[in-house]
Amino acid sequence: MKSLHHLIIIIISFVFLITESIAADTATTIVFTTLGRSRFAFDIFSLPIHPTIRYDHELQLTDGHSVNFNGHLADQTQTIIANPTLPDHPSSLHLLYVTERNGSSSIYLDVVSNHPAPRRTGTRRSVFETESTRSQHRLVGGGNGRVSMKDRPSLVGDSVIYVSTHEETGVARTSWAAVYSTQLSTGLTRRLTPEKVADFSPAVSPSGMWTAVASSGENGWGGEVEELGTDIYIFLTRNGSGRVKVVEHGGWPSWADESTFYFHRRGDDGWWSVYAAILPQDSPVTVDSVVTRRVTPPGLHSFTPAASLTKKNIIAVATRRPGSDFRHIELYDIATGEFHDLTRLVAPRANHYNPFISPDSSRVGYHKCRGAGNNGKTIKNDLFLENIKTQQPGISLFRIDGSFPSFSPDGSRIAYVGLPGLYVVNSDGSGTKEIAPDITAFSTAWNPKRKGVIYTSIGPTFASEDTDVDIYSIEVDTDEPGFTKLTAGGLNNAFPSVSPDGKWVAFRSGRTGYKNLYIMNAIEGEKGGLTQLTNGPWSDTMCNWSPDGDWIAFASDRHSPGSGSFGLYMIHPNGTGLRHLIHSGAGGRTNHPWFSPDGERIVFTSDYAAVSAEPISNPHNYQPYGDIFTMKLDGSELTRLTHNSYEDGTPSWGPKFMAPQNVEWSVDEEKCWFEDSEWLAITNQLYDAKRQIQCGG
Ligand SMILES: *[C@@H]1O[C@H](CO)[C@@H](O)[C@H](O)[C@H]1NC(C)=O
Ligand SMILES: *[C@@H]1O[C@H](CO)[C@@H](O)[C@H](O)[C@H]1NC(C)=O
Ligand SMILES: *[C@@H]1O[C@H](CO)[C@@H](O)[C@H](O)[C@H]1NC(C)=O
Repeated sequence: MKSLHHLIIIIISFVFLITESIAADTATTIVFTTLGRSRFAFDIFSLPIHPTIRYDHELQLTDGHSVNFNGHLADQTQTIIANPTLPDHPSSLHLLYVTERNGSSSIYLDVVSNHPAPRRTGTRRSVFETESTRSQHRLVGGGNGRVSMKDRPSLVGDSVIYVSTHEETGVARTSWAAVYSTQLSTGLTRRLTPEKVADFSPAVSPSGMWTAVASSGENGWGGEVEELGTDIYIFLTRNGSGRVKVVEHGGWPSWADESTFYFHRRGDDGWWSVYAAILPQDSPVTVDSVVTRRVTPPGLHSFTPAASLTKKNIIAVATRRPGSDFRHIELYDIATGEFHDLTRLVAPRANHYNPFISPDSSRVGYHKCRGAGNNGKTIKNDLFLENIKTQQPGISLFRIDGSFPSFSPDGSRIAYVGLPGLYVVNSDGSGTKEIAPDITAFSTAWNPKRKGVIYTSIGPTFASEDTDVDIYSIEVDTDEPGFTKLTAGGLNNAFPSVSPDGKWVAFRSGRTGYKNLYIMNAIEGEKGGLTQLTNGPWSDTMCNWSPDGDWIAFASDRHSPGSGSFGLYMIHPNGTGLRHLIHSGAGGRTNHPWFSPDGERIVFTSDYAAVSAEPISNPHNYQPYGDIFTMKLDGSELTRLTHNSYEDGTPSWGPKFMAPQNVEWSVDEEKCWFEDSEWLAITNQLYDAKRQIQCGG
């Protein structure tokens, strides 16, 4: 008996060991890029509403970690109710905001108490010379909760009202953004948005009774990347009932009192302006009974309004003025029609986003990059790989500070491009090697058999078929990197991917006038052997060779050539077996497929989950709908890995499991430079043209 008992234990532990080692062997890592994100070192700041403003009046309200945005100063009495343990300091600010620290989006409440600083002799003490203490409270998200975006929070008594993207719609190209309420004392979360509807930018009325949202209603999302064309609905904050459409065409509501809110809309004249909506007091609230009027004038863009609860004539807005490349926060006096500069006086060459006004109307808050215009303080990029939380077991997910990453065959190194520049770095962030710091390269791939050989395409991205782009192989371990040009003729040859035996390179080329796929010799290039793999009047691109060598996955618009809609396909390297993998609705965009190391899944970027926030509330992203997904090759188990309102793309799947923690580095590159929404600038140019015509110029 005894020996049998022993044997069972031995067998059990043996099985356990095998299971453990399989888990470790099959665990892998995905890296992807988020456009611009490494430069968004956002913190929330505030300025006093004061007739004369100096740069040193600006207070940084958040702690300088990660990316902090969409702040809201809560009524103190309300936050004390929400959290009786908070200090009840008379001059404290109760700031609710979104933070992306610790690899997921969560909502924090910081209580910042200001204590007067000791008077310096000979100087006049201003109320802004203060020292502050901070207590920090995570209210929603992070921890072991479901991974999702959390956005535009407000507090109502004991509940936080916010947008989350954790519930799948099951329908391609529909946003997962919906408004939820989480009761802090019980943790109970309730969805306030109806099924099949996306709601953005919630705002709670001063009493807490009503919530207004920008909603896509039943119309869904048609690919809009500028204005979403939402309508404004209101509903009871308590349970989402009483939902009624109040404004046709509008977004970003902000309540001034129980029957007035402001919102933005791009008018027929092309200008984004702020409008007021007044709900009727004694008749049913409908689109027809609500009175709306334009508040800010044409001639500049005014958007993302914030109402004041105590100064009825004052709103804070973000503006883009003709000739300016920067977004600033200004006050607008509705009675006099005058704008008053705020942030331009402090940091003229920085972008400022999404204002809010304190409950007592003494301060205006906003977010901006913390290195922007602050006494010349430079903020360095300190994360090479930012770990992003995911609920996919066995996958470590990282955002890389670079584009088009790819892992070396053993997973120990990463090649990436810097737009410009081509680099190779150890996956622990050490040993950065500049292969060519000035070239415009895109996409990278390693040869699985030839050590230290990578492939890339050099030339402009997103270019026409006849653009000068060629594929090179590069020996990266020699003292001087050795470049070999593999394609000839420069007709947009790009996206190389190497066969597992290291002998062949699949790539796309525009040489026939259309982008199709080809296979060439991996050492000698075209002259060592070339075959055309796909052929047709459409675009096949972004190919990736499966680890068993049997398939090449790629993106194509062959279902609707030239429409801008891309889906994923697979084909055998011998040209047989073409298979459609996934499509995001009829007009959707799905791109950048990459096989998992076991060849059973692919990772890719897609607009499957549409946009997660009003694009104008963010810095510019060309494709604010891009999120990273995986699925099995039979189309099952579609899984969303990223939840944010940025453009996530160029994923790559590596063979080694990297511990899910940030990998730091220090690079000499200033953060804070990024574009504000370019479509706002285009309208400015149109305005200049219009004005010149009017002036006879
Ligand atoms: C979360 O992020 C903050 C700021 O980046 C950091 O100080 C803290 O250690 C992190 N916490 C965990 C649990 O990783
Ligand atoms: C929602 O709340 C309102 C106001 O308290 C109440 O009258 C109504 O019955 C509730 N509706 C639902 C569906 O719970
Ligand atoms: C083409 O390749 C696939 C897998 O690589 C193979 O299964 C198939 O038999 C091949 N077909 C032809 C006609 O060679």
